[in-house]
Amino acid sequence: MSDNPVSLSRWLIEQQRSHGHIPGSLRLLIEQVARACKRISRAVNRGAAQGILGSLPSSNVQGEVQKQLDVIANDVLLEANEWGGHLAAIASEELERIHPIPHRFPRGEYLLLYDPLDGSSNIEVNVTIGTIFSVLHLDEGVEEVQAAHFLQPGSRQVAAGYCTYGPQTTLVLTLGHGVCAFTLDADQGGFVLAQQDLRIPAATSEFAINMSNMRHWAQPVRRYIDECLAGREGPRGKDFNMRWVGSMVADVHRVLQRGGVFLYPWDRREPRRAGRLRLMYEANPMALLVEQAGGLAIAGSQRILDIQPEELHQRAAVMLGSRDEIERLRQYHLEAEAAPAA
Ligand code: AHG
Ligand code: MN
Ligand code: MN
Repeated sequence: MSDNPVSLSRWLIEQQRSHGHIPGSLRLLIEQVARACKRISRAVNRGAAQGILGSLPSSNVQGEVQKQLDVIANDVLLEANEWGGHLAAIASEELERIHPIPHRFPRGEYLLLYDPLDGSSNIEVNVTIGTIFSVLHLDEGVEEVQAAHFLQPGSRQVAAGYCTYGPQTTLVLTLGHGVCAFTLDADQGGFVLAQQDLRIPAATSEFAINMSNMRHWAQPVRRYIDECLAGREGPRGKDFNMRWVGSMVADVHRVLQRGGVFLYPWDRREPRRAGRLRLMYEANPMALLVEQAGGLAIAGSQRILDIQPEELHQRAAVMLGSRDEIERLRQYHLEAEAAPAA
């Protein structure tokens, strides 16, 4: 890192002033989200010393057990963002309903969505976890914000990012003009620019999927993975490597750094559910980041960013990463759709 690193604040101001990529209010909103991530990072680091590991008796709207840190991270993000004047409402994976900005604060023009703590099953084992966020613009002329105002396709996100809490605390951000990464520098007390214009290599020989679900997958996913597993002797003519952290933020961060694919497809365990991951808090922000880094993100034959959401907490199949591989997987889905039903 250089002696005179570019802080996140300075980088954002340049995006506003010199490049006209963002209005001032969006810049301030991103700074506020980053400040909240800093506080969450501190809580995660202190862990047992603060007595905040472990589960709560409560469950969230998805019926999943809540960890203490899920709730703490959600509260930190809510508290840090509601008073700033840039938001009209907030939606969180951990909140059943949207949180309109209370009348005592000024109301802004943006909607913020987040998964406060992604990978919460990894908290106790001290493996990388993170926060994922997405920013939408509220349509003009709305008096009372409703959940329906959040139901915009991912292609309309004005910003998206995540922050990983691991060996390093890293904020990865897109404002729709490429992807940059910032590292939390304890000496500086803030985020500093670490990587500009991240690009995902088009070709790869690494995949990430929870193999224990193999027997439940649909044919196109099974075909793709079978061919990878066949290695050099198979139709792909090369060996593949596999990784699965169990925290989407960490798995997607690896894909952004060195290529590969991350797959959480639909499966037969709950056939009426589109997938395990959540469209608005996980799939959409990650899809924007990946596409802004030159990769692709699909739910099957459809691009994730084109999905018209029907409800706030809906799920989606997620297949994203290196362009050539995801395009191949999309073709397998198209072929399966075109084939006559058996
Ligand atoms: P969350 O902790 O926000 O509920 O998300 C966990 C997600 C995602 O991070 C990860 O990729 C996936 O769940 C892991 O699922 P499996 O345990 O089925 O592998
Ligand atoms: Mn998650
Ligand atoms: Mn979560």
